[in-house]
Amino acid sequence: MDYGLKNRLSRMVKPATGRSVMLACDHGYFMGPTTRLENPRKTIAPLVQYADVVSVTRGVLRTSIDPAWDVPILLRVSGGTSMLQEDLSDEGLITSMKEALRLNATAVSISIFVGTKHEKQTLLNLSRLVDEGEENGMPVVAITAVGKELEKRDARYLALACRIAAELGAHIVKTYYCEGFSKVVAGCPVPLVVAGGPKMTTEADVFELAHGAISEGAAGVDMGRNIWQNDHPVAMLKAIRAIVHDGASVKEAVRVFDGAKSKRVSDSIPA
Ligand code: R5P
Repeated sequence: MDYGLKNRLSRMVKPATGRSVMLACDHGYFMGPTTRLENPRKTIAPLVQYADVVSVTRGVLRTSIDPAWDVPILLRVSGGTSMLQEDLSDEGLITSMKEALRLNATAVSISIFVGTKHEKQTLLNLSRLVDEGEENGMPVVAITAVGKELEKRDARYLALACRIAAELGAHIVKTYYCEGFSKVVAGCPVPLVVAGGPKMTTEADVFELAHGAISEGAAGVDMGRNIWQNDHPVAMLKAIRAIVHDGASVKEAVRVFDGAKSKRVSDSIPA
């Protein structure tokens, strides 16, 4: 692996722990102004200093991420569909490698839709992106499914999709936590991070998910709604960090959350 690619990867997956807390804020690319991400800058600004990586599209990067903020960017480069369509799998590449380099992205992300009508197209998109990523020192994160495909959240399906992503050359795979997740990890030779999915009922549910994923071998999370749709997003992110980087238990994470939620959010907005 070339220096540039290794260097970018180590900016994302922190060498001290081998793990990463990625903040997913790329939902608008097919969901539009998602609840509490209507104004991306307002949502992201207080959180950025607690995230190892922020995941956005180029539009949100240019309009809502200050170039002076010192945070690695995971740039979403697949899309072309909207929630108004029955079939969300018909994705293409929406941002070129040249543009990703110009924007100083740390990595690019792309969805694949295994088991759908557009399986082949999205797998070929991934393969092409990996070719370009290798050529330019840009890591590629493959995302196993979004939206309605979440119905297929079982270990057999996710193990298949994750393994295919790794076989096609993805450097990191983003997937979903599920029962039997360790089987997904065992079959995937590159680091796995998990998404959070729609907002859960309690904070402890979110911590259970993150803790389960980390205990079973995930290298981190790429989580969005369960952080910024919470009334205390900074506290959520701090608690998730404690699980991912410090090995905190669910109970300890609840304590971190409770301790952090009383702090004023404005205290933590970067200048
Ligand atoms: C879908 O829009 C993206 O891949 C999200 O980044 C992913 O679903 C993670 O966000 P959340 O934790 O909200 O599911």
